[in-house]
Amino acid sequence: MRQIRSTWAQGTVLVCTHERGPDEKPSCGLQKGTELRSWLKERIHEEGLKGQILASKTSCLGVCSKLGATVELVPAPETGRPRATLLVDTVNEREELWAAAKACLLEGRLPELGLDEEL
Ligand code: FES
Repeated sequence: MRQIRSTWAQGTVLVCTHERGPDEKPSCGLQKGTELRSWLKERIHEEGLKGQILASKTSCLGVCSKLGATVELVPAPETGRPRATLLVDTVNEREELWAAAKACLLEGRLPELGLDEEL
């Protein structure tokens, strides 16, 4: 095993895109997690942040809510910045997510949302 330096300098936005059937436990794929990740990739490109922030798909993160997709903001380890787990309405909260991602990954500020226990 080798430790390597990542190709993105500031961090990663991991968007759960795991999809289950409509009669199964809720899943982020059915909450349009894949579309959210594509939208984030476009914003990264539009704002010239390619190489700084990576938007990537991930499988189930164990949250599995019918209220939205699970998103993990993961700053690059070298930055020492804290990470955050968010539950995102993939249609109505995209801009809010993007602002939170930039604040977290570029400035080390966590979203001031409070901790919601409702899933
Ligand atoms: S399906 Fe996304 S967190 Fe479980």
